[in-house]
Amino acid sequence: MEKYLINPNQKISRISKDIYGHFSEHLGRCIYEGLYVGEDSDIPNVNGMRTDVVQALRDMGLPVLRWPGGCFADEYHWKDGVGPKETRKRILNTHWGRVVEDNSFGTHEFFELCRQLGCDAYINGNVGSGTVREMNEWVEYMTFDGTSPMAQLRRDNGREEPWVVTYFGVGNENWGCGGNMDPEYYGCLFKQYETYIRNYDPDHRIYRIACGPNEEDYHWTDRVMDKVKHKANGLSLHYYTDIWDHETRSKKSATEFTPLQYDMTLAQAYRIDGIITRHIEVMNRHDRQHRVDLIVDEWGTWYEVEPGTNPGFLYQQNTMRDAMVAALTLNIFNKHSDRIRMANIAQTVNVLQSVALTEGEKMLLTPTYYVFKMFREHQNNTLLGSFITTSVRDIPDCKDASGRGTKPLPQLIESASIDENGTIWATVVNTSADQEAQVACQVADTAVKDVKAEILTGSTGDFNTFDAPNYVKTVAFTDYKVTADGFTATLPPCSVTRFEIK
Ligand code: AHR
Repeated sequence: MEKYLINPNQKISRISKDIYGHFSEHLGRCIYEGLYVGEDSDIPNVNGMRTDVVQALRDMGLPVLRWPGGCFADEYHWKDGVGPKETRKRILNTHWGRVVEDNSFGTHEFFELCRQLGCDAYINGNVGSGTVREMNEWVEYMTFDGTSPMAQLRRDNGREEPWVVTYFGVGNENWGCGGNMDPEYYGCLFKQYETYIRNYDPDHRIYRIACGPNEEDYHWTDRVMDKVKHKANGLSLHYYTDIWDHETRSKKSATEFTPLQYDMTLAQAYRIDGIITRHIEVMNRHDRQHRVDLIVDEWGTWYEVEPGTNPGFLYQQNTMRDAMVAALTLNIFNKHSDRIRMANIAQTVNVLQSVALTEGEKMLLTPTYYVFKMFREHQNNTLLGSFITTSVRDIPDCKDASGRGTKPLPQLIESASIDENGTIWATVVNTSADQEAQVACQVADTAVKDVKAEILTGSTGDFNTFDAPNYVKTVAFTDYKVTADGFTATLPPCSVTRFEIK
């Protein structure tokens, strides 16, 4: 029997709702078809946004959306995407599939989408191929209320009121697709560009995000922090979970995998815990007051694309394995919520680890969707001290072609929070593909009156299809007993369980 202790006396940090954020890029069928079908489409829509997807994302509790990229952001020139649609430039999407981008989804459409979703806006600006003036004018266009050329242009394009830009990213992956820069050079550019991101609204400061490292690039974090520490509000980290076939030099299938590949994927996802800890240690060397937050604005699984689809569109299915990756990662983010202000899974619909997939007018919700919906109860709660005993297995390292290295994978990974009404929400992942787990939970100094629970479980490779869209979904969980100060439960293999404790 594993012991699970939740301590309501230990209130650690607020879990920012934006840890549950999403990312949508002009990539494949994410924006076009996934979110936006145009006003004239036969697919039901409101102002061009498909109603089925918007409703699902609202139900899931999407708090913030990052746009327009990704690599696309550093080639995006915002003026191409405003004004009458007939006259908008048709450009080549050089990064993703070399398809025509007709710019019919631009700044006005993005804010309309945010309005319908009821979410905050995270705009990613162009440093790699854009100018300081272009970025300055975009911010003026979006947020200035007075008399100016860009505010007038916005009004001429049909929008009187400015919008609220909550977060602004100064470039994306500038160590790679965003210009192949050295960290010192990028750090200087950040300060230059950031200077001209004006705060026009006296009651709202735009939160500035500097491009941070990829995975374990601690050197980038160190050098960039040295430059940006007094100017940036957040530093972004990108971390994808991918496992490689070293012989064919390709990624692996999203749906066909061995038990070992399942374990390797989860162990690879779990590595993010240590990576976050080490980046924060490096940040702290430059920032003793912890002024700069960590933002994980791209994360999730990345597999080989579905057979027969455009390799540049990054379309992949989503199984229970992905649900486990999402749940264990979100538990890790909760545990680091003293420093992580926002995270954005890549990429919402039809691209990488999506929460929804579409095919024409059909839509399905993925196992990952149900994890986000279960975990939404943590949004804006207070993280509690909690600990679970568990076995830990050593899994062969998927990045090491020799197969010599190993990575740890705990069987049980959890987090717990308390909401403003005093209800405790605990989310527990059983990563094992075949072992159930007996758990005895004790809530310190608390007389527990009532426990309710929901579960998402199945075989590791289960997924939803357009013909069977409800094969995997959350159901009520009943295999537990309430005790005087907690509960005992038997958690099935490959499961995510959410307990509501009063
Ligand atoms: O999410 C897909 C791509 O991954 C993004 O465009 C880029 O930032 C990252 O390399």
